[in-house]
Amino acid sequence: MSILQIRTFPDPVLRSRAKQVSEINDDIKNLTSDMIETLIEAKGLGLAANQVGILKRIIVLNFPEKKPMALINPEITKKIGRRTVEEGCLSFPNHTGVVERSLKIKAKALDEHGGRLYFDSEDLFAQVLEHEIDHLNGILFIDHLKKHEKLHARKFEYPDQTHQHDLKIQVEVVKDEELNENHSKYNEKLYSEIRVEKMLEALEKGNLLVDLSSSTNVKEDEKLVGNL
Ligand code: NI
Repeated sequence: MSILQIRTFPDPVLRSRAKQVSEINDDIKNLTSDMIETLIEAKGLGLAANQVGILKRIIVLNFPEKKPMALINPEITKKIGRRTVEEGCLSFPNHTGVVERSLKIKAKALDEHGGRLYFDSEDLFAQVLEHEIDHLNGILFIDHLKKHEKLHARKFEYPDQTHQHDLKIQVEVVKDEELNENHSKYNEKLYSEIRVEKMLEALEKGNLLVDLSSSTNVKEDEKLVGNL
């Protein structure tokens, strides 16, 4: 098993459509193990193969108190309702935005042994499934940003996950300068310095960032879910 480098926005692989997995062989099983190890290192809830530079329809999930799992060829079969939630993404480290998501999702996938899985999900699990399956289609969470919304620079505070029944995670607003100055805030095993620099440049260029004066308006006790 090995930890893989995570691709950050605007890497073109994140805008590419991943291909169906036709056979679940040892290569696929090794890839899912590496993706799970990477996701655990990143303390994220979900990761899609595009995010490690591989265009195959595979996502991995890691929910606290559940066994990490890999879904192969996942597909959404039904979306029900809309809700507004704050969201992050491992390809946009330290940034979050307010997006629209479905209330409930029905989905199907294969497990690592080719067994069929069916999901009738809501809340956070539905949000993560929608987010990760979007990745496989080259769609990013910034495509779902509410009108006039921009990204906030944030630092995630991860609670002790051993007895975590509440999946919400405390966040703290940090200044852009701090993020820029201190690259050690990005896990070096996962993010190359050049990729982080390119992302910050692209976010700035695309006018996707909230300016500092308005990001300080975020309430101190505001909470959001983890990285998807
Ligand atoms: Ni993501």
